[in-house]
Amino acid sequence: MENQNTPASISRQYGPPLWVTGILFISLSLYLFFRRGYFDLYISNKIYAGVAAILFGMVLLLGPLGRLFSFADNYVHYRKELGIIAFILAVIHGVVSLFFLPARFPLSSYIGALNWPFIFGLVATVFLIAIFFISNEKAMLMIGGKTWWRIQNWGIRIAFILVMLHVFIMKWGSWIKWYRAGGSAELVHPEWPGAGLLVGWFMAFVLFIRLIESFGKTPGRLAWYFSAFALPLVYILTFIRGGLIFS
Ligand code: HEM
Repeated sequence: MENQNTPASISRQYGPPLWVTGILFISLSLYLFFRRGYFDLYISNKIYAGVAAILFGMVLLLGPLGRLFSFADNYVHYRKELGIIAFILAVIHGVVSLFFLPARFPLSSYIGALNWPFIFGLVATVFLIAIFFISNEKAMLMIGGKTWWRIQNWGIRIAFILVMLHVFIMKWGSWIKWYRAGGSAELVHPEWPGAGLLVGWFMAFVLFIRLIESFGKTPGRLAWYFSAFALPLVYILTFIRGGLIFS
C-alpha cells in the first residue's frame, strides 16, 4: 500500500481541495470588493467565514453524491482535506472576529448580554476543534473504526447545524431588509446581495438535500435534481429582485 504521508501523496490529496478553496476565495473577494468598493480585514473575515461554510457544505454533500451518482466516487476521498481547510478558515474567522476587529465587533458585544449567534459560533468551533484533533489514524485506532466514523459523521453534521444557527440568527433581519429595500447607500452596488446571503442559501440547500436523502435513494436523487435547478434559480431571482428595487 502506498505511504499516505509522502510529500507527493499529500500534494495529490490537498491539490484539488486547495484549488477549489482558491477559486472560491478569489471569486468571493472580487464579488465583495466590487460590491463595497474596498477590501480590508473586515471584508476578508467574511470571506474566511463564507468559504469555510461552503467547504463544510461540500464535505456534507460529497457523501450523498457518492452514494447516489457513481461519477462522484472519485471525489469522496477529498472530504477530509476539504474539512481540514474549512476548519482552519473557520478558526481564523473566529479569532479575527473576536480579537482583530474591535471597532466592528467589540469583545463586550460577545460577553455582555446573551448573544445566541456568538454562542452557536463558539460551540460550533469547539465541535470542529474536537473533530480536527481526532482526524488522524492514531485516534482512529484508539477509538475504534466504527465509533470513530460515527463521531466524525455526527460531529460535522452537528457543527454544520450550529454554524447555520450562528449565521441565520445573526443575519436573518438584514437579509429580509435587503429583499425589501436593497443594501445600504454606502455600497457601490447595493442592488447586489451580500455574500452571506448567497452562502446562506447554499447552506439551506445542503440541509435540504441531506434531510431528503435520509428517506432513501430515489428521494435523494430527486432532491439533487431539484436543487441543481432551484439553487441557481434562487440566485437569479435574488439578483433580479435587487435590480428591481433600484430600477
Ligand atoms: C468563536 C467563534 C466565532 C465567532 C466569534 C464568530 C463571529 C462572527 C461575526 C462577528 C460575524 C459577522 C461578520 C460580518 O457581518 O462581517 C460572523 C459571521 C459569519 N460566521 Fe462566524 N463566528 C464564529 C464561528 C464561526 C464558524 C465556526 C463558522 C463556520 C464556517 C462561521 C461562519 C460564519 C459565516 C458564514 C458568517 C456570515 C458572513 C457574512 O455575512 O458574509 N462562524 N461570525
